[in-house]
Amino acid sequence: MSSYRTDAAISTGVGYSIVENASLEGRNTFRVAARAAMLIDVRDAAALPEVFAFDGLHTQPLLILGEGSNILFAGDWPGIVLSMATRGIEILDGDGDTVRVRVAAGENWNDLVYWCLAHGFGGLENLVLIPGTVGAAPIQNIGAYGVEVGEMIERVQVWDREARAPSTLENAECRFAYRDSVFKQQPARYLVVAVEFRLPRAAVLRLDYAGISDELAALGDGEPTPARVAEAVSRLRLRKLPNPALIGNAGSFFKNPIVDTTIADAIRGAIPACPAWPAGSAIKLSAAWLIDACGMKGYRDGDAGVSDQHALVLVNHGRASGVDLLRVARKVASEVWQRFGVKLEAEPRVVGTR
Ligand code: FAD
Ligand code: EPU
Repeated sequence: MSSYRTDAAISTGVGYSIVENASLEGRNTFRVAARAAMLIDVRDAAALPEVFAFDGLHTQPLLILGEGSNILFAGDWPGIVLSMATRGIEILDGDGDTVRVRVAAGENWNDLVYWCLAHGFGGLENLVLIPGTVGAAPIQNIGAYGVEVGEMIERVQVWDREARAPSTLENAECRFAYRDSVFKQQPARYLVVAVEFRLPRAAVLRLDYAGISDELAALGDGEPTPARVAEAVSRLRLRKLPNPALIGNAGSFFKNPIVDTTIADAIRGAIPACPAWPAGSAIKLSAAWLIDACGMKGYRDGDAGVSDQHALVLVNHGRASGVDLLRVARKVASEVWQRFGVKLEAEPRVVGTR
């Protein structure tokens, strides 16, 4: 570790504060040590024109950080880290079958899911317990249990760094796809300021993902409702995924690979148990299953390893560095490549590599 000073607030403006040489260890769920030359917390979106008038935001590398649940720091961040700590949930209109809700980027995602349940607005219940902020949700088009957030997003309000002005992207302009969007493709361009959702008033339940119906049945008698679906999904998630409050992780470390039917057929011909789902004209394979089949579940190299609970999750057993975790990621990807000829791609953003 480098010999940086202790954090100290060096200045504040109306709606934002700035810290130099800031520790990011408490701001990433892998809990790896990393520092930023400068950290700006924005509490009021109205401060953005003043914040972006600062020269450094155009001359130094800029990283937008939410709750750090989908990021791996493989080193310090050499420039500025900007975090949206803005709050606010506003019902824009809601007289018809759907309701339109605008949510500030800094709101916690799971809090929003529960707010919607409390107000009788459906649509987000399958996405319960996903860590992170609302502002990060469109970046990789968060998805779980058969639903992707892009289905419920009407538009996204951004600060466009290229235009140096606020702007709005309609759903189609966001180019949502599996763990992908225009925001992920152009990470330096857009700062998400707020997300506008259109949510159904009447429950439109999505129960097709493996395990949901069984879990609902285990909850006992009663019609499925959005709240019961959220409860069922929560139980599944808590059973399957390691809790970042107990062991550092960023959820799935690899995306499920989408491969040609010929590759999928060859693997499934040899091992018919390999899970596979149609993805347009291609096939999506289960990265967890491939890693598990390579015997890598529970693999450990010092304090960095693969979870023994879920093969797709890399874990920090204590003092692992981002580089240690990256070494494990490369080992896992290489085993899968050698055994199956399938390339695994990281899902979290990896920063600080040289
Ligand atoms: P960060 O990790 O801070 O940032 C992620 C990316 O978004 C970075 O590229 C960052 O630059 C960018 N970003 C963040 N905020 C903004 C903004 N306001 N404007 C522009 N760019 C921004 N994901 C799923 O899709 N489905 C799951 O089921 C799921 N389960 C998870 C389970 C666990 C235990 C964990 C730890 C993670 C899981 N994730 C899952 C990943 C993660 O929760 C999501 O990707 C989440 O949206 C990240 O939010 P964040 O605020 O922590 O973003
Ligand atoms: N499996 C194994 N070994 C394991 C774990 C799982 O073989 O150790 C098999 C399961 O038996 C199942 C298959 O892998 O057949 C899929 O497992 P699971 O249902 O847990 O889903 P996943 O594909 O591993 C994806 C998302 C998760 C999301 C869940 C539920 C990706 C990369 N991951 O995981 O998202 O919560 O589905 O929809 O798409 C995340 O993105 O961080 C994340 C956690």
